[in-house]
Amino acid sequence: MKYPFTLKSYKSKCLEGNLNVPSDKSISIRALILASYCIGKCKIFNLLESDDVLNTLEVIKKLGIKIEKKKNYYIIHGNGGHYEEPRTELYFGNSGTGVRLLAGLLSSSNLNATLTGDSSLSSRPMLRIIKPLEKMNLIIRHNNGFLPIKIKKNNNFTLPCNHKLTSGSAQVKSAILLSSLGAAGKTTILEKVGSRDHTEIMLKYLGAKISKKGEKITLESPNFLESRDIYIPGDFSSAAFLIVAGLIISRSKITLKDVGLNYYRIGLIDVLKKMNARINIKNKRKLNDEEIGDLEVLSSNLKGVSFTGKISPRMIDEYPIVFIAASFASGTSVFKGLEELKVKESNRLKVMYETLRLLGVKIKMGDSHIEIEGGKNYNCNAKIKTFDDHRIAMSSLVFGMASNGSVEIDDMSMINTSFPKFKETFEGLGAKIKFI
Ligand code: S3P
Repeated sequence: MKYPFTLKSYKSKCLEGNLNVPSDKSISIRALILASYCIGKCKIFNLLESDDVLNTLEVIKKLGIKIEKKKNYYIIHGNGGHYEEPRTELYFGNSGTGVRLLAGLLSSSNLNATLTGDSSLSSRPMLRIIKPLEKMNLIIRHNNGFLPIKIKKNNNFTLPCNHKLTSGSAQVKSAILLSSLGAAGKTTILEKVGSRDHTEIMLKYLGAKISKKGEKITLESPNFLESRDIYIPGDFSSAAFLIVAGLIISRSKITLKDVGLNYYRIGLIDVLKKMNARINIKNKRKLNDEEIGDLEVLSSNLKGVSFTGKISPRMIDEYPIVFIAASFASGTSVFKGLEELKVKESNRLKVMYETLRLLGVKIKMGDSHIEIEGGKNYNCNAKIKTFDDHRIAMSSLVFGMASNGSVEIDDMSMINTSFPKFKETFEGLGAKIKFI
């Protein structure tokens, strides 16, 4: 839903305070999907109530799964993967994770279903999941590699296969794992480039026969998942906006509690530390087998940095905000290997290049790299086009808070896909951000 009003951020004084960041979007979506596959009731605590997650929840209900909302948890009545054939199209809104993971699971569930999404999701490539699923004898029709996807019954004849992944995509890996849950036999995935392993961790937590040795993941099927309580940690990708804001707004000190610290999600910390960031990780512990902890962030004099694409799968969603950090650092930063940014909610390489240029940053862009010459005194007074991309919207607003001027975004509605209380959270720390 588009709003008749939007957000504008202004030069802000120091950010101060302790807070919990929104729950993890990737883990919330996986929790709903896997709980629906369990035998019996699962309680999910701290589910992120954002548009992406709620769209997935509605889809799961359309598959005949009963879901109850209680005061501080949801109950999912799993039925061991026996989904009802949906009577209407399954609409995923903006969620690439929702549609790709459920395309995997449903393609081996012996039903017919049509999967759709909004205009941004409809322009994102789907062949990356369709190709490996076809190898498993799953039947998927598509619109030249894009949504809508039509899944056809395959009479439960799913072939367990050996897959080799070179791209470092957790969505592709997860689609294969979910579709293989019911395939009789051994599925292997050779993961040449590691990516977030939330699906593997949760599958193991729920009793699936999954193991990992070096680069090889093995899943023995069929699997019968046991229902257990699932707690969702804070989303590191949402924390990233607060971390960078805390670093670049002078005299700030913030503590972010219970943040997910999965190794494959926190490449941004490595990059920022190399830039001189003062970030302290405290109270490290585990929450249903996921690493979590508290992050203390103190304003820092950041310096420029160079990174190749090797780190990209570990910080794939954090490039827009790391470009903001680089814009306020002293010296030049170079980020290479950014091809995947072109197929996110928007073409983030091009959109961030144009956004930062408009905001007065000295920036150069190549086919797959970006070079940013940092500065401090940005007297911008700009209106940013966000292209239906929540991370472009939030990164631009953080820029406004650290600038000497202001930044307005054309549309705030997409922020609801991952960080519904963005304005209130930043305001609570002292940032200047208003509806206009
Ligand atoms: C996600 C994986 C990443 C990431 C996305 C969430 C996930 O996508 O960009 O926001 O939850 O598995 P890719 O698998 O396409 O890299």
